[in-house]
Amino acid sequence: MTKHVLVATDGSDTAMKAVELAAEIAAKFEVPLTVAHAIHFGRPPEELARMAEVEHLVEGAKTRAPVDFPNVPDTMLGLFSDTRPEGDSMRLVTMIGEEIMERAADRARELGAKTIDTRSTVDDPAEGILSIAEDVGADMIVIGHRGLGRLKRVLLGSVAQKVLSQADCTVMAVR
Ligand SMILES: Nc1ncnc2c1ncn2[C@@H]1O[C@H](COP(=O)(O)OP(=O)(O)O)[C@@H](O)[C@H]1O
Ligand SMILES: [Mg+2]
Repeated sequence: MTKHVLVATDGSDTAMKAVELAAEIAAKFEVPLTVAHAIHFGRPPEELARMAEVEHLVEGAKTRAPVDFPNVPDTMLGLFSDTRPEGDSMRLVTMIGEEIMERAADRARELGAKTIDTRSTVDDPAEGILSIAEDVGADMIVIGHRGLGRLKRVLLGSVAQKVLSQADCTVMAVR
């Protein structure tokens, strides 16, 4: 029987569908739900472009934590390619991750999930998801079949593929 559901989100629409299914399962079986997000710099260019489309995330993140960011690059592209670990970019990227997870958690709550926690990691996304799943004792991982990537000919994203092939527990890929 399912005891703990983990859902992985990169903030994409497909990941939100995964959040919705995971929340429904968690609500139905009355089990805890963990929302996981891997923060990663050096994203591929097409992913950066997609992030640029969700630039309002930055505004959301700034609203949740009203602090000044004097040294933040103007664009998502600049932001995610800025690798100075101590810089404002790192803080803001972390906050965007928080924003992505909070939105997922809010949606899951709306759908009736009762016990929700959020976990992020700075890691390779698949490795990060798998280690959080192990950490919280998740026995089901729900993931989107696609994410922010743009390679339409690819049927299954690389993160989804790696999680599917390496997880010890059940994995559901949502379309
Ligand atoms: N950084 C990330 N943090 C958490 N989950 C992620 C991350 N990147 C991808 N995922 C999960 O993997 C799914 C598939 O994404 P991915 O394999 O990266 O496909 P694509 O190549 O289309 O971006 C997403 O819907 C999401 O559930
Ligand atoms: Mg991706």
